[in-house]
Amino acid sequence: MDWLKLPGLVDVHTHLRVPGGAHKEDFATGTAAALAGGITQVLAMPNTSPPLVTRDVLQKTRQVARQTIRCDVGLFAGASPAHIAALPELAEEAVALKIYLNDTFGPLRVEDVPTLLACFRMWPREKMIAMHAERQSVAVGIGLCAAFERPVHFCHISRKEEVELIAEAKAQGLPVTCEVTPHHLFLSQADLPRLGALGDMRPVLGTPEDVAALWAHLGSTIDCVATDHAPHTLVEKRSDNPPPGVPGLETSLPLMLTAVANGRLSLERLIDLMATNPRRIFGLPEQPDTWVEVEMTPVKIRNDGLFTRCGWSPFAGMQVAGRVARVVLRGKVAFENGRLLAEPGSGELWPIPGEKL
Ligand code: DOR
Ligand code: ZN
Ligand code: ZN
Repeated sequence: MDWLKLPGLVDVHTHLRVPGGAHKEDFATGTAAALAGGITQVLAMPNTSPPLVTRDVLQKTRQVARQTIRCDVGLFAGASPAHIAALPELAEEAVALKIYLNDTFGPLRVEDVPTLLACFRMWPREKMIAMHAERQSVAVGIGLCAAFERPVHFCHISRKEEVELIAEAKAQGLPVTCEVTPHHLFLSQADLPRLGALGDMRPVLGTPEDVAALWAHLGSTIDCVATDHAPHTLVEKRSDNPPPGVPGLETSLPLMLTAVANGRLSLERLIDLMATNPRRIFGLPEQPDTWVEVEMTPVKIRNDGLFTRCGWSPFAGMQVAGRVARVVLRGKVAFENGRLLAEPGSGELWPIPGEKL
């Protein structure tokens, strides 16, 4: 199999850094990186500066997005104890709600039950609630899913105990779903001496046992592969107080194709994890006349030539099994052999208020 034709891929977890972080990434560079990685539809996280927790900030960000995105984008709204009353109006212009239960980059956090109750009461039932939940916070999310009888999606599950809890919840018939990142599949704590701060993210890298559990559940419990593309500059990562996060949009498909080439994953399952399931779980629109052409050829991941503004990858130097040769979005060539053709503003922004997704 030298050439593959895949559907446009969907990444439900990116940080595109607008507003407030354009020195790390912006909508034009982040969506360029997505296309270069075979991803045509992305959801962007709300832990921006200021965060996407008020209608004013969300509307202004949507305006910037409309003019600058090169692939299709939806924005998450963020849950914040100080802005709970804004949830119904945020829901009109956001694809889903993100709740941060544990520590990570930026101040967005929910640590009290009244705020959680308000989120589950006020956020429309037909829109997803996604959680950054680690260790016992996964049990909190499962409890809320059961109590309110509504779907909950768990971001970047990284530990054996977490994926096992989710497997139990699914076995009980609860509507929980989860994603894993390529960095939690392909890196572990054993890589930290080599990577230093370039291997620091939240959740932190797991033990080899955690990694083995993620691979073991990739054919069953795990619903999606999502990048958690979290660009920070090399200067920031090499500072005394490096922020957590690694970029991932351009390396996710090549890494997962390597798993296919090595017989760890079927191509059908890759398409489920990277296109079919994420689109279904978040209720995202189909993209007509959209596909990705891949050449299955050994290539080395390199920092130069990346489209992400941060300009580095924790996987630099690693050999992968395939490269994205061509991306066609709604009938137009968006990316071809290292050349980006999609113009800023050519992507679509969802949801369109007043219209169902
Ligand atoms: O490592 C991370 N970085 N994890 C997150 O949850 C947030 C992200 C960021 O925004 O940099
Ligand atoms: Zn997170
Ligand atoms: Zn994230």
